[in-house]
Amino acid sequence: QCDQPVETARFDCHPEPFASSEKCLARYCCWKPIFSSTNHSTNSLEVNVPSCYYPRDFPTYKIITNESTVFGQRLTIVKQQSTYMPNEILNLTVDLLYETAQRFRLRIYDSTKKRFEVPLPVPVVGTKSNVTDYEVSLNQAPFAILVKRKSTGVTLFDSSTSPLIYADQFIKFSSYLSSPFLYGLGEHRQPLLINVTNEWRKLTFWTRDEYPVQNVNLYGVHPFHINVEMKSNTLINFHGHFFLNSNAMDVDLQPLPAISYTTIGGIIDLYLFTGPTAQDVIQQYWDVIGKPAMPPYWSLGFHLCRWGYNNIDNLRTVIQRMHDAQFPYDVQWTDIDAMRSNLDFTYDPTNFNGLPDLVRSLQSEGKHYVNIIDPGISPTQPPGTYPPYDEGLKRAIFMTKFNSTELIIGQVSPGLTVFPDFTNASTVEWWTNIAAAFHDIIPFDGIWNDKNEPLNGVDGSIDGCTNNSLDKPPFVPNVLDNSLSAKTLCPSAQHASSSHYNLHSMYGYFEAKATNLALKAIRHKRPFVLSRSTFPGSGQYAAHWTGDNRATFEDMYFSIPAILSFNMFGIPNVGVDVCGFFHDTTEELCTRWMQLGAFYPFMRNHNAAGDKDQDPAAFSWTSQQIMKQALLMRYSLSPFWYTLHYQATTLSKTLVQPLHFEFPNDNKTLGIDQQFLIGRAILVSPNLVSQTTTVHAYIPQDVWYEFSSGVKVKVIGVFTDLDAPLEKINVHVRGGFIIPMQIPGSNLMIGRGNPFTLLVAQSASENATGNLFWDDGDTIDSIEAKAYNYLEFSLVLNTLTIDTIVANYKDSPMRLELVRVLGVSKVVTSVTVNGKDHKDFFYNVFDQILIIYGLDMDMLVQPSQTI
Ligand code: NOJ
Repeated sequence: QCDQPVETARFDCHPEPFASSEKCLARYCCWKPIFSSTNHSTNSLEVNVPSCYYPRDFPTYKIITNESTVFGQRLTIVKQQSTYMPNEILNLTVDLLYETAQRFRLRIYDSTKKRFEVPLPVPVVGTKSNVTDYEVSLNQAPFAILVKRKSTGVTLFDSSTSPLIYADQFIKFSSYLSSPFLYGLGEHRQPLLINVTNEWRKLTFWTRDEYPVQNVNLYGVHPFHINVEMKSNTLINFHGHFFLNSNAMDVDLQPLPAISYTTIGGIIDLYLFTGPTAQDVIQQYWDVIGKPAMPPYWSLGFHLCRWGYNNIDNLRTVIQRMHDAQFPYDVQWTDIDAMRSNLDFTYDPTNFNGLPDLVRSLQSEGKHYVNIIDPGISPTQPPGTYPPYDEGLKRAIFMTKFNSTELIIGQVSPGLTVFPDFTNASTVEWWTNIAAAFHDIIPFDGIWNDKNEPLNGVDGSIDGCTNNSLDKPPFVPNVLDNSLSAKTLCPSAQHASSSHYNLHSMYGYFEAKATNLALKAIRHKRPFVLSRSTFPGSGQYAAHWTGDNRATFEDMYFSIPAILSFNMFGIPNVGVDVCGFFHDTTEELCTRWMQLGAFYPFMRNHNAAGDKDQDPAAFSWTSQQIMKQALLMRYSLSPFWYTLHYQATTLSKTLVQPLHFEFPNDNKTLGIDQQFLIGRAILVSPNLVSQTTTVHAYIPQDVWYEFSSGVKVKVIGVFTDLDAPLEKINVHVRGGFIIPMQIPGSNLMIGRGNPFTLLVAQSASENATGNLFWDDGDTIDSIEAKAYNYLEFSLVLNTLTIDTIVANYKDSPMRLELVRVLGVSKVVTSVTVNGKDHKDFFYNVFDQILIIYGLDMDMLVQPSQTI
């Protein structure tokens, strides 16, 4: 029973540290350490092969009843004897829900007692889909479930790999993977592609304030992955898993290839999405967790922040030099140093005297202001002087100790702090009221939710934690510091609906939701929230940044897998601290990073206290020109980005994506994560290596043009060295696409009245399509109310047609000034606009570019116009 054919087929029976032969055999498992005379650390396979593993006949469940139901099938499974974990649940119910043709859901729960379930509003599907892409079969004893893709026979899920363990605080199940190639499983710092061909990998999920390093649990939890399917070594389709579980968990990956989920609570609630494309998988996932919010238009601009302006004079100096240097920028932020004694919903009237007026003056120029709010509320201010605490106490919305009404107290920036329970409806009201009162003093436009893992500077609480099974569970996943209370609250702390043990990783989700609702209620406009901690569904309420990165080229590289992964996770409005948070940046790094950041969905330059200034205006004239160039590219593409946001929120498309998703049949694109696509049309290939002037990049087989020059790319389908001196970021536009652009203004509110332009990149067959969504940029429900304009563009047989499908927003003119057509092989001798001769054009025969200018066309003329 212990002679597994290959070592990679071992499933860990002793995941805790310090396994030994005695401990292993006491679990009735197999013990066979792998010894090697060579250096272990060079071979991760040897290092991670479990020495203690399940024998093939390890006791597990068998099916005793199996009935067809309206939603699919219901089974009951039983296990005769308990094994090594306390409180095993021997009678389980298994629901197989055939929710849609592409979505299968597996729920396994206690047959007799209700257990905690993740309070996420997921779709309730009452009836079984008659047509499905997948086929489910069962093994009666030992209990196992097998799901295959009907069209190819490829296995999508197969739990027969190892025994199901289901104890009160330890649930473990495994499945074969279709290939060793996965994307997702965040939040972790890792390359985009998880490749376990030769590697064992453990990823841990438990939200945690930790500056991003590899192999540790970080700020957010996203137990979702996309698995690449292979048949005879060809990559064909994609499918996905989402494990809907908020308890601390480990996900183990091994070269078999296989995946194991080990969680310490909740139930098994696993979704399977059959794709078949990667974007299909994502769409099917977002159908479950909710689509991302449409952001306010101004938030697409450049954001500037730092921790440690320290006083209003420094802040004013930066704003003034940004203005003098004529950088486009939209949003000014302040950090905790602008608060009075680090207290939420206050500002420092001494060091930041005049902040409200400064904010109003920024707003009068069309700019916006965002301030930071941490969750911890100070309970130590003199009674009657600090309403956030006094009011919160009255409403009893703070978290309490286990089985007690006594508040749990931790320590964060303002000193001792209590923690609002954002799962409670009354908390949302309180939060709205105190935010509204502060808004009367400083009319902020957005809120930054930091430290919401939640961070606590003392372990658990100032009084420590209990010894009960929530604080000291029988098994602790591989969390940093080996303790669930490390840098946070005791797991036994209480929310209104459940324990922190269950809800910890959703703290940021609930805070962002409450903040989003508060902003709507206060401003009556589309809210902007930035949240550090996230959970599936957070994208409906917040944007995200990846926390406290460092000013290194390596950190700049890791930003790309991060933004690509968060796009899959349904929080597509994501960026990282441009130029690096910790440490002094360098002019070279910051220049490169401003260029790259100009193509992040969310672009904020942010810096840690004490580090030297890194706003663009702080650098040499030469660097400033390069950074400005990048910002102008960003600003000119805002209509394109805005349209992508519209498609994200209505059609569940990501804003940015890996090359592999668009070119899945090209194995060379697998895992490329130093380049990325914006939508389907723009390829960004930044230079991520210091002191180099070329970038080794892959331009897939298709028609591509250099974004700035419009020149067609000659070398495709191979990795090639592109010219990338400091002043250049390589950006390419793909043939077949029409990109709506706009002449930039000094900020987006000013620029949005400017004329539009179209970049038309012809495909090999000389056609192209594109679209444009446009509204007032701020109304909460403009999509639902159809208070927008929607245009479609198509180029066929030398005719560009502008179809104005919806033209309901007329408050600002939409004039088309210029069209640039790339890849025009035949000499152009005349141009007509709506049938009339148009003299203002220029044809560059050498580069095959046609520029039609002086158009001054009203784009809202319905139904269509032609050029
Ligand atoms: C931690 C955040 O990640 C960082 O962005 C912020 O500047 C500091 N807290 C101070 O508030």
